[in-house]
Amino acid sequence: MINSMTPIAVLGAGTVGQALAMRLHEAGYHVWFGVRTAPGLKDDGAPKRLMAEPEPEPQELPVPEVPRLAIADAVRHAGVVFVALPADAAVEVLSAAPLPAGVIVVDCTNPLRWENGPVHTPPAEGSVTAALAAALPSARVVKAFNHFGAEIQQDPAMASGPADVLLAGDDAGAKSDLMGLVETMGFRGRDAGPLRNAALLESMAVLWIHLATQGGLGREWSFAVSGR
Ligand SMILES: NC(=O)c1ccc[n+]([C@@H]2O[C@H](COP(=O)([O-])OP(=O)(O)OC[C@H]3O[C@@H](n4cnc5c(N)ncnc54)[C@H](OP(=O)(O)O)[C@@H]3O)[C@@H](O)[C@H]2O)c1
Repeated sequence: MINSMTPIAVLGAGTVGQALAMRLHEAGYHVWFGVRTAPGLKDDGAPKRLMAEPEPEPQELPVPEVPRLAIADAVRHAGVVFVALPADAAVEVLSAAPLPAGVIVVDCTNPLRWENGPVHTPPAEGSVTAALAAALPSARVVKAFNHFGAEIQQDPAMASGPADVLLAGDDAGAKSDLMGLVETMGFRGRDAGPLRNAALLESMAVLWIHLATQGGLGREWSFAVSGR
C-alpha cells in the first residue's frame, strides 16, 4: 500500500518531473527528485530530507519544495519511482540504479521521433515499459501518466471532472496500489490491462501530441472515458 510516508522518487527534473513532483508534493506525498547532477549532496545512502542538517543548495531548484538527490540516493529507499526521463535513457538509468526489490516503477516516457508530426519508435520489446520490465525483474513496472501533457500532470481538473489516467502492467497489486495514489493526486485511475497494452498507451501519447500540434487542439485537454 502507498501512503503519505511512502518514499517517492521522481527521476528527471524536466518538464514532466517538475509537474509530477509538484502534484505529488501538493497531494501530501514524501517526494524527491533523482537527478544526474545533484550538487552538494553526498552519496551516503540517506535521502537529504532525512538528514539532520541538509546541505546548502547552490542552485535554484526547479520545484523548491522538492529536494534533489543523486539518482542512486533517490531510489535506494523508494517505494515508488516515477520515470520522467527521455525514453532512450530509461533502461540504462534504471538498470544502473539500486532499486529495492518490489519497488513500483511508473513509466511516463514516450519513445518517438518527429516526421511532420510524432511517430512512435518503440524498442524491440514493444514499449519502453516492456523493456523496463525485462531489464528490472524484481521491480513492478506500470505505464501511466504518459498520454497527456505536463499541464494536465500538474493540474488534473478538467471541465468534465478529474483527468483519466490509464495504467497498464502485469502486476495487479502494483496497479491497485497505484490506483490509490492516482486518485489521491486528483486523477481518475483506469486499469488499461496488461503490460502489452503499454504500447497502446504510448500510441495514445503519439495521437495526443499529433492532435495538440498538427491538429491544433493545444495542450489543455486529455482523453476521457465518458459514458452516457
Ligand atoms: N513534456 C510532456 O508534456 C510529456 C508528457 C508525457 C510524457 N512525456 C515523456 O516524459 C519524458 C520526459 O519528458 P520531459 O518533457 O520532462 O523532458 P525534459 O524536460 O527534457 O526532461 C528530461 C529530464 O531527464 C533528465 N535526463 C536526460 N537524460 C538523462 C540521463 N541519461 N540520465 C539521467 N537523467 C537524464 C534531464 O536531466 P538534465 O537536466 O541533466 O539534462 C531532465 O531532467 C519523455 O520520455 C517524454 O516523452 C512528456
